[in-house]
Amino acid sequence: MNDGWQKTEGSAAPGEWLAQGLAHVWLPYAQMKTASPPLAVTGTHGCRIVLADGRELIDGIASWWTACHGYNHPHIRDAVIRQAGIMPHVMFGGLAHEPALTLACRLAALLPGDLDRVFFSDSGSVAVEIALKMALQFWRNRGEGRRSRFVTFQGSYHGDTTGAMAVSDPHDSMHALFSGLLPQHVNVALPEDEESIAALAAVLEREAGSLAGIIVEPLVQGAGGMRFHHPDVLRRLRRLADQHGLLLIFDEIFTGFGRTGSTFACEQAGVTPDIITLSKALTGGTLPLAATVARTPIFEAFWSDDPKQALMHGPTYMANALACAAANASLDLFAREPRLAQVRAISDQLAQGLAPCRGICRVKDVRVLGAIGVVELDRIDDVEALRRRFVEEGVFVRPFGSVVYLTPAFTISEEDLGRLTEAVVKVVGDIR
Ligand SMILES: Cc1ncc(COP(=O)(O)O)c(C=O)c1O
Repeated sequence: MNDGWQKTEGSAAPGEWLAQGLAHVWLPYAQMKTASPPLAVTGTHGCRIVLADGRELIDGIASWWTACHGYNHPHIRDAVIRQAGIMPHVMFGGLAHEPALTLACRLAALLPGDLDRVFFSDSGSVAVEIALKMALQFWRNRGEGRRSRFVTFQGSYHGDTTGAMAVSDPHDSMHALFSGLLPQHVNVALPEDEESIAALAAVLEREAGSLAGIIVEPLVQGAGGMRFHHPDVLRRLRRLADQHGLLLIFDEIFTGFGRTGSTFACEQAGVTPDIITLSKALTGGTLPLAATVARTPIFEAFWSDDPKQALMHGPTYMANALACAAANASLDLFAREPRLAQVRAISDQLAQGLAPCRGICRVKDVRVLGAIGVVELDRIDDVEALRRRFVEEGVFVRPFGSVVYLTPAFTISEEDLGRLTEAVVKVVGDIR
């Protein structure tokens, strides 16, 4: 299975480039004054990250949950190289190409129900912006322009652009600083128990006339704290949305493509949302690509002789041919290799391997869903120190907030996953 997937020559060791370049880049989610310098990487292969000093780390994060087949998979690499020789990119306005149209057909076939109309973009946050814009204009085109707000949930994270920040948790999140400046939506607890169900029902009774839709990360709230909820919550949201005539948006940017144990998380609830957003593992972690997919009735609300009723959106790099070729190759791998069975095996191993954390006094919870393993602590005082400890153990794990989590590639070996869980048990056990 891994033929041709061996280590290849990495790029040059960091001489000048690291020191000189660090003076000119602005790094993500980092206080530039105090953050530890990033690790210099010269290559990747399988589930390994190769550092410039020759060390190899076992990757527990799959590059922010994208590299589901491991790094440098030969099937994706060959597809991208082939496409680069034919046509790396052509604008999508007035022109169409096979990789994008094939991908649209394949996504429509994979997704449940009549989620049939695919709008491509280049990042998860932008896919969310497009979903929100589609929902707002859906109502405008139907003469109900006063429907302009969304129901959002505590603990949610939908991205870093303005609209996506506004539908993320306004208080308990990295975007809290901006909460007063952004459009005001209705942020409530997920309807998980009697009290939160009643609270949501009351909000909908009161506000439905001004609401365009409900947006949720199905089954797992990722960057908001790796919190899981029961599929019943999604069934409840579908019922409430239908009862009040609201659009239901599922953000499957993290959960899509097998991460929770089914191809899409919504399948576990048997719920079809009106709009779904996809990105991250869409290209198997090779190139940036995202998709916002709408059900037929949503698309039909834009189908008109009136140009003003068109969706006025079109990112320059939308449907980039290289990225679409990578995504098609990634879907081939899902079709021909036993990815969901691998996720089940990872799930069992994560549950077993992380179980000893339950006995550690600072640990509040250990939970596993699909290929996501989470150890939640009462708090983490020095997240950077913890990250360094993992590197010392030979693994790449990036705790945030109060959680240490693993989201490995689905192709990880039993041995490498064992080393990841052992490192988590050891490092968490050493926290004082
Ligand atoms: C659920 C969810 N939505 C949206 C995003 C934003 O995606 P991107 O970072 O590609 O803009 C993320 C990223 O972590 C995410 O997890």
